Parts: sequence; structure tokens; C-alpha cells
Amino acid sequence: MFSPEPIGHIRSPYQNTQQVPKGLGAQHEAEGILDVLPQYEVGLTDIEGFSHLIVIWVFDRAGGFELLGTPPSDNRPHGVFATRSPRRPNPIGLTVVELIRREGSRLHVRGVDMLDGTPILDLKPYLSNIPAEKLRRGWLAEAEQRHKA
Ligand SMILES: C[S@@+](CC[C@H](N)C(=O)[O-])C[C@H]1O[C@@H](n2cnc3c(N)ncnc32)[C@H](O)[C@@H]1O
Repeated sequence: MFSPEPIGHIRSPYQNTQQVPKGLGAQHEAEGILDVLPQYEVGLTDIEGFSHLIVIWVFDRAGGFELLGTPPSDNRPHGVFATRSPRRPNPIGLTVVELIRREGSRLHVRGVDMLDGTPILDLKPYLSNIPAEKLRRGWLAEAEQRHKA
């Protein structure tokens, strides 16, 4: 294994978890900045060509983990690996954001759901190649159906 070090930090409008939209139908339109450390700036070369990025980050303010939990989008418990819960054995978050523009080592993005100051572990271009008709949304699709009914 290796000891991960942040490549930068997220600047977000959210100071605490209550401020982040949650539950069924939550929209993540908030803008933020991926503030990459200067020593990694060369690694951002050519990133401007991508509309969306995968951000891999640390839930640095989540305490411990639970293997079964009830997410805000349902009233039934699910296994941690079938959810996007912050309370996981390895507290790693993954968010797809829209890249608005780059200013040197700062990436302006839309769609953040992380708290201000969250450490970033990695960035990758988002390249979806799974056709929509092949995607199954598991318990979330059922929760959405119940919510609509
Ligand atoms: C449901 S998780 C999903 C995060 C990410 N999109 C994922 O799928 O891994 C999002 C929640 O994590 C919490 N959160 C955001 N940043 C955090 C941080 N740095 N430490 C702990 N919890 C955080 C907020 O309560 C937010 O609503």
C-alpha cells in the first residue's frame, strides 16, 4: 500500500454537512475550486479539453464507519458498498464535476458536494462509455419509484 498525500484542496461554499443538498432529487449545482498544489500544476497540462472530471477525495470529517446504514435517500438500510455514505472503512469520496475554467493550478468547477478544505487525492478526466440502457440503479431506483408514488 502507500500513504496518500493530498494533491490539493477543495474550495467549496459548504462549511458543514447540513449545508450540502441531500436526499432524493438533490441537485449539486454549487460552484467551487479545485486548488491544486503548485508542485502538481504541470500535471494539469491539457485538462482544459475535458468537460467533466472525476475528483477522488477524503472524507476528512467523517468519524468511523458502519457497514449497514440508512441513506438520506431511503428509509431502509443498505450495505456501505451499495451507497455513497461518508462513513466507510476507507473514507474516500468520488465526485464528478463540470470543469468551467482553469486558472493556473486552480480549476473552477460546478457540482461540488464536498466541504470547504476537503483534501483532494486525485483527478481524472470523466469518460463515460456505459450506455444509459445498460445502467441499473439498484435500491435507488426503487426508492425513487416509492417517492414518486
Ligand atoms: C453522500 S456523500 C457523497 C460524496 C461523493 N459524491 C461520493 O459519492 O463519494 C456527500 C456527503 O458527504 C459529506 N461530506 C462532504 N465533504 C465531507 C468531508 N470532507 N468530510 C466528511 N463528510 C463530508 C456531506 O454531508 C455530503 O452531503
